[in-house]
Amino acid sequence: MESFVGLPLNELDTPVLCIDMPLVEINIARMASFFAERPAALRPHTKTHKSPVLAHRQLAAGAIGVTCAKLGEAEAMAQAGIQDILIANQIVGPRKIARLVNLAQYTQVMVAVDDPGNVEELGLAAQRKGVALRVLVEVDIGMGRCGVPPDQPAVDLGARVATTPGLRLEGVMGYEGHAVMIPDYEERTRRAEAAVARLISTKEGFEAAGLPVPIVSSGGTGTYAITGDYAGVTEVQAGSYITMDTQYRDKVGMDFHLALFVLAQVISTPRPGVAIIDAGVKTLTRDFGLPVVAAPEGWELTRLSEEHGFLEQRGGDPLHRGDRVKIWPNHGCTTINLHDHYVAVREGSVEAVWPIAGRGKVR
Ligand SMILES: Cc1ncc(COP(=O)(O)O)c(C=O)c1O
Repeated sequence: MESFVGLPLNELDTPVLCIDMPLVEINIARMASFFAERPAALRPHTKTHKSPVLAHRQLAAGAIGVTCAKLGEAEAMAQAGIQDILIANQIVGPRKIARLVNLAQYTQVMVAVDDPGNVEELGLAAQRKGVALRVLVEVDIGMGRCGVPPDQPAVDLGARVATTPGLRLEGVMGYEGHAVMIPDYEERTRRAEAAVARLISTKEGFEAAGLPVPIVSSGGTGTYAITGDYAGVTEVQAGSYITMDTQYRDKVGMDFHLALFVLAQVISTPRPGVAIIDAGVKTLTRDFGLPVVAAPEGWELTRLSEEHGFLEQRGGDPLHRGDRVKIWPNHGCTTINLHDHYVAVREGSVEAVWPIAGRGKVR
């Protein structure tokens, strides 16, 4: 794929995942400028782009570190020289814990905990390795996923971490995932603030108990401006904003550019008003809705099978075999995870091809 560099977009073989670099740069700068003026900092989630190159761009723009969903993703970032990594997830089982403490030997990795048994296992492994493993207590602030209940149960677990040799208590994390996609801004604000209030009251409980709590981490793209402005939050984990997707744009109305697209090709025009492209669910995902045709105008993507996309004409000009179609993914994170490389595009031609190093790193 490296031979793509320098080619005009319309000469690329299809289907191919592309990022529009000027738009990515605007998105990075827009988010960075929000945090530049506030006490809270940005720790972007790499679960979206899964690319160390893009993570380095975010760090250069002011991010304090990265957030990862999985240990394998964190290893991919560490291998590319990224130092400050939060794994916003539980790391369970001897094999994974061994990998985690090895990673802690050469990066400032942090991990979330919500269970005393896990705390003990992490502490023993960290001691054996001779590292001080950084730990955040994960608090369930209303999403109902992982995390201990707010306040006393979280404080108790924090005390356990603080007294476990091998571990270094760094604070608390939550994630108001139940609020990030609420379309109505006032309702989203109300729900997000109610969630973050639980995290802040837990932080105050830590302070009252004399426990260190330098980090209070939460937030996503849909709530960055709410959570990032909430007193006491020290960092926000937004990820999707960098490439955006039509789910966030159309449902939540987020003000970032759609910088991610798949370039596909018409392979058949079986009936008037219908065109079939060479991109199905092995190229594009539909977990929250169908992708959207960005160009040409007048065509709607109505169905995806494995390797085919069905386009129906609503207006505009007819499509012909071999024509290029630009598609905006509905969900960037899962679409990116289907691809090995990004084709980075500027002014209609390929500037770079970057491996998506964290792609498929689910272990
Ligand atoms: C722990 C955690 N933090 C932050 C996010 C934010 O992601 P996004 O920016 O895509 O809303 C997610 C999304 O799944 C998450 O699971």
